[in-house]
Amino acid sequence: MKYIDMKEPGGPDVLICAERPEPVPGPGEVLIRVAAAGVNGPDLLQRKGKYPPPHGASPILGLEVAGKIAATGAGVTGWSPGDKVCALVPGGGYAELVKTPVECCLPVPEGLSLTDAAALPETFFTVWFNLNDRGHLKAGESLLIHGGSSGIGTTAIQLAKAMGAKVFVTVGSEDKARACASFGADHVVNYREQDFVQEIDRLTDGNGVDVILDMVGGDYIGRDLQALANDGRLLSIAMLGGAKAEVDIMPFMVKRLTWSGSTIRAQSTASKGRIAASLRETVWPWLASGSVKPVIFTTFPLSEAADAHRLMEGGQHIGKVVLTVQGT
Ligand SMILES: NC(=O)c1ccc[n+]([C@@H]2O[C@H](COP(=O)([O-])OP(=O)(O)OC[C@H]3O[C@@H](n4cnc5c(N)ncnc54)[C@H](OP(=O)(O)O)[C@@H]3O)[C@@H](O)[C@H]2O)c1
Repeated sequence: MKYIDMKEPGGPDVLICAERPEPVPGPGEVLIRVAAAGVNGPDLLQRKGKYPPPHGASPILGLEVAGKIAATGAGVTGWSPGDKVCALVPGGGYAELVKTPVECCLPVPEGLSLTDAAALPETFFTVWFNLNDRGHLKAGESLLIHGGSSGIGTTAIQLAKAMGAKVFVTVGSEDKARACASFGADHVVNYREQDFVQEIDRLTDGNGVDVILDMVGGDYIGRDLQALANDGRLLSIAMLGGAKAEVDIMPFMVKRLTWSGSTIRAQSTASKGRIAASLRETVWPWLASGSVKPVIFTTFPLSEAADAHRLMEGGQHIGKVVLTVQGT
């Protein structure tokens, strides 16, 4: 099969098209013929050598795909060759074929193409797990999302609105601000022109927000603590602005704050299966009804994965970048 190889960590140029034997699904796994694979922030980190695959995972890049079931391993029920599927994969998505535990598979939501569906798993598993399981976001509460125009951010805006929350986002440009408003954000703060702590204070009459989804880390953490309301929840999912933060413990105590950190990739198959089941029950109907939609900025053929990474690193995209596989 064709796949995207990298001989060593580095810039986008290390990504080259190569051939290798097809993977064979083990017990409890399915083999997927990939039609499209999403590109995610963690792929860029892995390419740079800063996010090594977990033990036993494919070293090939790619955390999400959509396509058709090509084969099933022993003990797999509910899926047959030819079924359309979208799936979180432990690695190996930038390829014509990839295997993944059956627990990580979801049906392609009604009305969505395979390219649309490939943009779902990584951000939907991450955002749903954080807002629902960790953040306990409830209707009537407020959420602040940093990186509102990112793949994660565009998903979080829509899921939070569907959950009945009021949504604030931060972005770095007016184009991105307009886009986030069109996806449903109630208030957008351009962090290059405004201080988000002051803006949240003003917009919430000094109360702060109930939940913050943070991909910036660094000096945002201390400012997040100021922007949180009593009983607020801070959800850390990345550290684009730095891995170290100096925090004042007092707001944690006085405001009864909770700080959660998580990655999806490192979680057990059982845990991913629980998130998949919850997504299928609650979120997949929102996708089928069109009230929540994947936001795809552009697509590239699989062989042009390096260009897809260059585009993502340029930081001008809004939503997701997807690789398409010819002939599927
Ligand atoms: N923990 C997990 O389970 C998990 C899962 C998936 C992804 N992630 C992480 O989540 C992040 C977003 O992923 P993605 O695929 O959605 O990426 P993406 O689409 O490339 O978005 C990255 C966003 O970050 C913003 N940004 C970058 N540096 C910033 C800074 N210093 N301050 C403020 N904003 C900054 C950019 O927007 P502006 O132009 O507005 O600054 C951009 O929209 C990545 O770091 C990724 O590794 C974590």
